[in-house]
Amino acid sequence: MNILIIGGGGREHALAWKIRQNPEIKRIYCIPGNGGIEEIAECCALSMDDFGRLAAFAREKEVDFTIVGPEQPLVEGIVDYFRSQKLPVFGPIKSAARMEGSKIFAKRLMAKYGIPTARFSEFGNPAAALAYIDSLPEQPLVVKADGLAAGKGSVVCPDRAGARRSVDEMMNRRIFKDAGARVVIEECMSGEEVSLFVIADGKDYLTLTPAQDYKRALDGDRGKNTGGMGSYAPTPFLTAELRDRAIREVVEPTLSALQSEGIEYTGVLYCGLMLTADGPKVIEFNCRFGDPETQAVLPLLKSDLLEIVQAAHSRSLGKLRLQLDDAHAVCVVLASGGYPDVYETGKEIRGLDNLPEDVLVFHAGTRWEGEKLLAAGGRVLGVTAVDSELPGAARRVYAAIPQIHFEKIHYRSDISRRAWKK
Ligand code: AMP
Ligand code: GLY
Repeated sequence: MNILIIGGGGREHALAWKIRQNPEIKRIYCIPGNGGIEEIAECCALSMDDFGRLAAFAREKEVDFTIVGPEQPLVEGIVDYFRSQKLPVFGPIKSAARMEGSKIFAKRLMAKYGIPTARFSEFGNPAAALAYIDSLPEQPLVVKADGLAAGKGSVVCPDRAGARRSVDEMMNRRIFKDAGARVVIEECMSGEEVSLFVIADGKDYLTLTPAQDYKRALDGDRGKNTGGMGSYAPTPFLTAELRDRAIREVVEPTLSALQSEGIEYTGVLYCGLMLTADGPKVIEFNCRFGDPETQAVLPLLKSDLLEIVQAAHSRSLGKLRLQLDDAHAVCVVLASGGYPDVYETGKEIRGLDNLPEDVLVFHAGTRWEGEKLLAAGGRVLGVTAVDSELPGAARRVYAAIPQIHFEKIHYRSDISRRAWKK
């Protein structure tokens, strides 16, 4: 069995690591991959948006199944293209990937089917958006670009002046290009955020261990929003009772809303939920696995991942019984100093050879130059450990990290800490 993974971050390294555990696997290919994925897969530097080339590659390498990591190719229709070429692939089709590709699409769907989310208004005209902000009482607001903006398209604004600035930047100055042509302005919710990955086949679904992502750059949730500085799973904030409620009020109504709209959803539906005083509400949907949550969630998955994604493809998820480890996993991201703003790359990474065997290192932005492994991105590595207790998993990770070196390394020292007391 040959597998192709599209993407080149920590999430894709975790996917490749997990897929590799299937004894039927002959070769794993990854486009574009990274320095760590290269050690378990053949990486090829093709462009992720040239679907014709990707499909030709899959045919040439006799790829049996393709898994797509990032949102961009999904939103652009890679799954539709692969299907049209009779190439088996895991991920939602273009019309379904709009759940992430268009905030307005997702918000309208939620409004139509009564799925709990923040109250919102949508605008295609900046003057109307500004007038709307002025009509509201002073309050925090969230301004969201409708389209994909590399995870930066949502701005939590402390007041109306901030919201006005964001509207101006997105709609007039087009800092996110056409993604900001339309915006959503919504009420600011508060509560713990959780990430729940639902794997759907258009008919049935499975849920993986709920996780929590640490988005801010600095300890104590200070500093800027990043792609994610760490994660852990399971999160005790989503109690069994709240989980049942999230399934009942969000997951099932959303999947059946999609069905009612005639949209087949196959793939991961990532439910980003805020656990508000009124119960779980949707912050956002994504059409893929989360990064870095995947680096904590997959080490807790006992079932075979290939079997799951193939079952999703063949619409037989209903027959699978998922096996989840009831242990705890913590993933800490090691980033380049300065991330998410300006940072330098090319620093040599040392110390990965002598880590304890039970510590997993998922590469995010790395590349080989001869014998040297170099940092090649903002997020460089994700270090994960598993333990029967959450603090134990954190202790294992934080005991291993000081052995890893690269110049200007930056990481948070409090990943999972807030959950210890729960
Ligand atoms: P999104 O791009 O929708 O995932 O939003 C990015 C981040 O902004 C989320 O993870 C939240 O931390 C925050 N956020 C988005 N929408 C809201 C909201 N309505 N209320 C509070 N925080 C939000
Ligand atoms: N961890 C957030 C995301 O993957 O979008």
